[in-house]
Amino acid sequence: MTRTLWVLGNWKQNHLPEAAAACARQIADDLPDALRGTSATVGDIRVGIAPPYLSLAATRPFVRPHAMLWLLAQDCGAQDAGAFTGEVGPNMIAAAGAEAAIIGHSERRALFGDTDRLVQAKLRAALAGGLTAVLCVGEALEVRQAGAHEAHVVAQLDAALAGLGPEAANARLVVAYEPVWAIGTGHTATPEQAAAMHRRIRAWLTERFGSAGTDRSILYGGSVKADNAQALVAAGDIDGFLVGGASLEPASFLAIVARAAAHVGT
Ligand code: 13P
Repeated sequence: MTRTLWVLGNWKQNHLPEAAAACARQIADDLPDALRGTSATVGDIRVGIAPPYLSLAATRPFVRPHAMLWLLAQDCGAQDAGAFTGEVGPNMIAAAGAEAAIIGHSERRALFGDTDRLVQAKLRAALAGGLTAVLCVGEALEVRQAGAHEAHVVAQLDAALAGLGPEAANARLVVAYEPVWAIGTGHTATPEQAAAMHRRIRAWLTERFGSAGTDRSILYGGSVKADNAQALVAAGDIDGFLVGGASLEPASFLAIVARAAAHVGT
């Protein structure tokens, strides 16, 4: 089967509403050019942006009319409402116009105390709230150096997806492998390193969810740029990208989209 390719821009804590809206507008305007000459259609590729919560509403008018463009939140609170100061839950994310949320990003895990248990709760809340969940997994450098990277990622999958059946995960779960040592460092995983981990994640998903697991897209993230995107997407079982720094400028983001789209039908 052909899985959907995703190219998602995680803007992290960047772009106030006005700048976010300008970027979103430019991405929407220039997307057709990025896809020109490729055979990619709406069913083949989804392009998404994840602005800060504050800027979701400002970007929505440019993103939502486009069938190929998605709007994502960068996180998702585990509850819909209540005495949870500072939290933004799935219903609020949906109300702001987003249809998906990134869950368990390594920056949330390392800097803001998101434990495996909390990641699981957030993921369940996002799915229950009708959002697509982009679950991030990935190992730190010392874990890879110790040769424990596959076991580490499998443990993250086990924890985040505990108790979920294929009906919960089907169609609305995307996994993003983001090795922590590759994020923001300029040290991309080699296509071989990324493909090996993606094969491991694929095996886990298929064992766990059967054909629904085989159909899930697995994205790579960590210093993705236009000049490494092509080799990564061609490496096998890499179904697109979660892009940080290079997604902040529409031109560099769309250059990655163009490289991924060029892979469609090859
Ligand atoms: P960079 O592309 O800046 O390495 O960030 C990757 C990332 O964390 C996306 O979620």
